[in-house]
Amino acid sequence: MTQSNLDSLLDAMTLEEQVSLLSGASFWRTASIDRLGVPAIKVTDGPNGARGEDFSGGVRSAAYPVAIALAASWNPELVEEIGQDLARETRSKGARVLLAPTVNMHRNPLNGRNFECFSEDPLLASTMAVAYIKGVQSEGVAATIKHFIGNECEYERRTTSSQIDEKTLREIYFPPFEAAVKEAGVACVMTAYNALNGTHTSQNRWLIEQVLRKEWGFDGVVMSDWTATHSTVEALEAGLDLEMPGPAKHRGEKLVQAVRDGLIDPDLLRQAARSILALGARVGAKAEDEQTQERAEDRHHTRTLIRRAGAESAVLLKNNHLLPIAPKSDLRIAVIGPNAARATMFGGGSAQINAHYAVTPLDGIKDAFPLAKIDYALGCPGDRYVPLIKQPVEISFFQSTDLSGEPVLKQDGERSEFKWFGPVAPQVDHQAFSARLRCVYVPQETGDYEVGLMSAGTSRLSIDGAPVLEAWESWERGYSYFGHGCAERRTNVHLEAGRSYEIEVDYACGDGLTTTLKAIRFGLRAPSDFGSLDHAVTLARKADLVVLVAGLNDDWETEAEDRASLDLPAAQNDLIEAIAQENAKTLVVMQSGSPVTMPWADKVPAILQLWYPGQECGNALGDILSGRAEPAGRLPQSFPAVGEDLSPMTDRPKPHDDIVYSEKSHIGYRGFQARGTRPQFPFGHGLGYGKIELVRSEVLKSACTQQALVVVVTLTNHGDLEGSEVVQLYLRGKTERVSGLAAYSKVRLAPGETETISITVPRRAFQRWSARYEQWSIHDARFQLSIGTSSETLYFHHTIERDELSTDRQD
Ligand code: BGC
Repeated sequence: MTQSNLDSLLDAMTLEEQVSLLSGASFWRTASIDRLGVPAIKVTDGPNGARGEDFSGGVRSAAYPVAIALAASWNPELVEEIGQDLARETRSKGARVLLAPTVNMHRNPLNGRNFECFSEDPLLASTMAVAYIKGVQSEGVAATIKHFIGNECEYERRTTSSQIDEKTLREIYFPPFEAAVKEAGVACVMTAYNALNGTHTSQNRWLIEQVLRKEWGFDGVVMSDWTATHSTVEALEAGLDLEMPGPAKHRGEKLVQAVRDGLIDPDLLRQAARSILALGARVGAKAEDEQTQERAEDRHHTRTLIRRAGAESAVLLKNNHLLPIAPKSDLRIAVIGPNAARATMFGGGSAQINAHYAVTPLDGIKDAFPLAKIDYALGCPGDRYVPLIKQPVEISFFQSTDLSGEPVLKQDGERSEFKWFGPVAPQVDHQAFSARLRCVYVPQETGDYEVGLMSAGTSRLSIDGAPVLEAWESWERGYSYFGHGCAERRTNVHLEAGRSYEIEVDYACGDGLTTTLKAIRFGLRAPSDFGSLDHAVTLARKADLVVLVAGLNDDWETEAEDRASLDLPAAQNDLIEAIAQENAKTLVVMQSGSPVTMPWADKVPAILQLWYPGQECGNALGDILSGRAEPAGRLPQSFPAVGEDLSPMTDRPKPHDDIVYSEKSHIGYRGFQARGTRPQFPFGHGLGYGKIELVRSEVLKSACTQQALVVVVTLTNHGDLEGSEVVQLYLRGKTERVSGLAAYSKVRLAPGETETISITVPRRAFQRWSARYEQWSIHDARFQLSIGTSSETLYFHHTIERDELSTDRQD
């Protein structure tokens, strides 16, 4: 659509119609104006899949590796391919806008959304974001980079203000957003829940108008995070185009009135409406979209892509001749651990999807070693909450908040959890309703069962009519369910095998305890689901080798909450120690979307960081163990050693606190350098299957220009297996305490192969933000360029004089 077409369309609109475009019409759609043929635009979350409308149990989608895993691949081409594929997934859900990527920085390793973000390093995060967005947008779907800015803490994210000085913002936190605008032409930007330096990001004029639009030239749509628009006039004046979700809280009639009262310049309104129309035209939104049903498209291409990406992003942290495993016919493998027989695909929150399928590590290993004898033991539970029961659960809804009257609707669920982000059904008032869940449970074993109950809204649970648990009188807001739910209530009950028990749960909302999100879950843990350390140890003793799959999951790492500690739940550390003592050939496979401490690291011969690799979880693991694929990842985040004090990054804010980024740019590996401590595993570390040596390096002076420096590096693979290496270039100015990643390149080498690669270091890597002159400039006259394979493993050092790069004396 041309500019003049847009103008005539805007001219033809009434004030009310223009205003209607500036807030969602519903949770996932902008407004349509049928009389003028303006279609609604549907959006969907991201980032590790395109979920569609339902938060839980919706139409199935492909589950891709989470963002920290993608960044661990250090392979922008792969990430671009995934972006393209995600665009197709987005279209399969009838949507035209993907609410991804998430590029907040790994400042705080306890952040509940650490898994959803790429890295602690701005360059790595920027290159990943650009690749992801280019991929998505090459298929005509709009990407939405989020959350702009300073959303590095989930705990109290709605009430806190991130206090970040401008130099730190420019050098550490802005780069992925800036690159997304300038290098990838990102279509949408989502502001953050938190405030920046005291002003809500959704109405921060400096942030949106000055930096994003004027300086970087952004010409797309700026939307608020869900329910994070806070004003009518200020937000529009600051440049916020779209209030999400709908229906409007601060716009709609309030905005119409503000224009009539002369409180807002109608041109601003027109500009914002134009952005929405331009987005619709850019992504090809059509009136028919509204009728489009969400589809589950389980494609072969996507399956292989996810499987490949799972291996390419897994990081071999340690390997004393254990991997890969030669498939012998008499091999006996003990597969142990809480994450072994379940596929842990992604973290929790809005990034969750209903995956097409899930391959567990146990199944993947069985498939990869068809001739081996495989034993399995749980060892200990890994759940944070009492596990859901997976069987039909009937739910009846009442049009009252005390379960009075006749049910107005009955539904059947597939498990013991229900979540509603928007209306349940037209006949149920979302703001005030009650519900009764019912199921008949027949235990498989006799013994003491653990029962759990948790809800956003009040709830109580009875078994055969006898009260067992309540969060009814005692309900109190906790941090579950995006901060709308209570803490889990737990107790034990004795149940007998083969008997039928009627479990009934009452649920009510409408008393102002909840906002948009309502949710209820209950769980049961059978005696054998606690696992047995003795059983696991016995299997480990008999096995040739052990694959111990430990880690976290979507309950531990989730939106609106941060982890309490870097440690694994204690039972898992005990399990690993006990198994390692029993079998010297123990591989620990760690599943987490953030660092965990590994106090047992010296006691096991091999550790593989698998992250949350999506639906092909077990297959990717099977490929790695059998050597069909290399674990070719490198850490995008430092893994701290036990006992490292990471405050102030890990300090928990109180409600309405300022979160002061007093460490400035010293996050991640920069922080370790500044403190003079060593992480357990440094940023950029990873072994792979090759034995690759960096033989020599040279700064190619003849090829250097004013804009860039060119470095050539020669590598040889001395090993018997094909392998990859990520060559990393770090730069440090003469007056600086720490160095920063300036460029990187991933190389793949066959056994015996030697290759010389050339890497370009852009001028920006030498520049720093001058707060005094408000511009980028090269401050130091001399730099040290170090070349290696992690932030701590550096082989070559070169001195670079500013004059070699620049003839521009002003710099
Ligand atoms: C999250 C966003 C997400 C939105 C819609 C918010 O809670 O912070 O990342 O896109 O919900 O689900």
